[in-house]
Amino acid sequence: MSKVFAFDIYGTLIDAHGLLDKLKPLVGDKAVEFSNLWREKQLEYSFRRGLMRDYESFAVCTKQALNYADLKLDTRLGEQQRSELLSLYATLPAFSDVGKTLVDLKALDIRRYAFSNGTKDAVSGLLKHANLLPMMDGVVSVDDLNTFKPNPDVYHHLLREVGCEPNEVWLISTNTFDIIGAQAIGLRTVWLKRDHNAVFDPWGVEPTLVISGLSELVALAKNSALF
Ligand code: 2OP
Repeated sequence: MSKVFAFDIYGTLIDAHGLLDKLKPLVGDKAVEFSNLWREKQLEYSFRRGLMRDYESFAVCTKQALNYADLKLDTRLGEQQRSELLSLYATLPAFSDVGKTLVDLKALDIRRYAFSNGTKDAVSGLLKHANLLPMMDGVVSVDDLNTFKPNPDVYHHLLREVGCEPNEVWLISTNTFDIIGAQAIGLRTVWLKRDHNAVFDPWGVEPTLVISGLSELVALAKNSALF
């Protein structure tokens, strides 16, 4: 059976809060709150645009969420500061456990795909900046469908792009809405619980597996009982 791991990007391989150091000089004590609100609103805007069928790219959700956080927290960032933050968002850092894990998975003949709300260009740019692009077999973006996770169509799109049946693909994500969306289509899922305090939505659905660090995937990949 084909072995495909599809990795969510923002929050899973790439640190969506990786601009905290840049935010601190701009918004002081509000940096953590600002970063959290920015991310929460970015996702909320993607959900709402999906429901309204009023698609704009994830970059637009990110930009409008930044503006919202600035207004809500009354941080009064200038146009140039906001534009700098958005440029830096295109080069957010990867988590430290990503590079080695992808190398190890490649050696085990696991096919590796990025699967994201971000456009192909945005995701390829992030991965390239983090020297991770050569370790991927491909980048699959919801942008091809003009909607967002967790619309079921985007998981079917992933399956078509990788040429697999649902039970041949593992989705690895920190985002619980992504895990639940993938499970609903029959994919197998690994919830990466990077934050010890993270809570899985109590919807009566469980991920196939839960890990606390990405490198645990290597043992999973070696476990023939799981494939
Ligand atoms: C991603 O698709 C949801 O942010 C997440 O990369």
